[in-house]
Amino acid sequence: MSSPTTVASLDPTIDPASAFDVAVAERSRAMPSAKWTRYDPDVLPLWVADMDFPVADVVRAAIHAHVEGGSLGYPPHPAFPDLIPATLDRLETRFGWRLPAEAVQPLPGVIPGLFVGTEAMSAPGEQVIVQPPVYPPFFSVIAQSGREVLHHRLVDDGDGYRMDVAALRAAITPATRVLMFCNPHNPTGRVFSRAELEALAEVVLEHRLWVLSDELHADLVFDGEHVPFASLSKDVAQRTVTLYGPTKAFNLAGLKIAFMVSENAALLARVKAVAGYRMPGVNVLAQVATIAAYRDGDAWLSAALAYLRANRDHLAARLHAEVPEVRSHAPEGTYLTWLDLRGAGLGDDPSGALLERGRLALNPGTDYGPGGEGFARLNLATSRATLDEALDRLVATVRGER
Ligand SMILES: Cc1ncc(COP(=O)(O)O)c(C=O)c1O
Repeated sequence: MSSPTTVASLDPTIDPASAFDVAVAERSRAMPSAKWTRYDPDVLPLWVADMDFPVADVVRAAIHAHVEGGSLGYPPHPAFPDLIPATLDRLETRFGWRLPAEAVQPLPGVIPGLFVGTEAMSAPGEQVIVQPPVYPPFFSVIAQSGREVLHHRLVDDGDGYRMDVAALRAAITPATRVLMFCNPHNPTGRVFSRAELEALAEVVLEHRLWVLSDELHADLVFDGEHVPFASLSKDVAQRTVTLYGPTKAFNLAGLKIAFMVSENAALLARVKAVAGYRMPGVNVLAQVATIAAYRDGDAWLSAALAYLRANRDHLAARLHAEVPEVRSHAPEGTYLTWLDLRGAGLGDDPSGALLERGRLALNPGTDYGPGGEGFARLNLATSRATLDEALDRLVATVRGER
């Protein structure tokens, strides 16, 4: 029987770049997925945050080998022996963040981690800060936990979205307990700089806030570097639980795996106690895939990032040349673009007109909290040909030709 790590070392010499120019629509429509089955077949779906690319061969091979020769019974507790070491190595080599094994806890997704983190860090009725526009489940998690949302809106200063830290200080009340932070930021694509994070950390420490830092997109950075919030200082680490995982970077969202990371052992124990038996363990194939991706998937990831970067630049160039009234800031990270369509005359929900007339499915900006009116989120992780077809439809709709 082969172990997952041995198999994961297969074929590191593939030419990953060739894997991205696939016939996306034919391939994707043949496989049931949220992205490609929600809308009619004539609609191009550039919405939910999956990539249209096949997974890395090393990941596929590891899963195949495990299905052929491994056990699908309960995995060892708390994880396969290589899972935590592979994750620790990755956090250290990519982000210079060195952690003990006890600081990392696997869990079946970031959203479950947001739930148990919120419940461990605050009491019903207390406030959780979110920074809209932001990933919509943040609002649902807070509402379903019986906590209150405190909005701290990001501000577009013309060059990109920034945090107005003075406004945050002024908004905090005695009931404010938690900051639910997202970096790299979905949907704006911001990768916050160390200086910005340090300014935010001052407020966190001054007001003794807890931080749930969703860093799921940390491996998808084009410009600048990803700085884990908890790595800023020992004091910040004591107040933070970070959520991280392979599912966005390696396109494995259906496998359901993530990690909760904290150097505050008591805090992590509290979160784990809240989770208890309500939180299922992480499934076997997700663990196998993650070990393969983290140990052997970086050639694929570099090629994917190069392809995504080219798509990002192509999108920006076409919008600028063809519909300059549609504004956007090129994402520094993530494969998401936050489109400002307020000048395009498509109303408060431009995604409605783009869907009806353009047969193009984007995420409605209003899902991302206050200030999302007139915006839409576009996922550019698709083949260049599909992106071009989507842009043709967007341009024609904005010009009133569809
Ligand atoms: C910022 C962010 N957090 C969490 C998630 C969902 O994570 P999971 O599927 O692990 O619950 C997503 C998915 O797109 C996301 O973009």
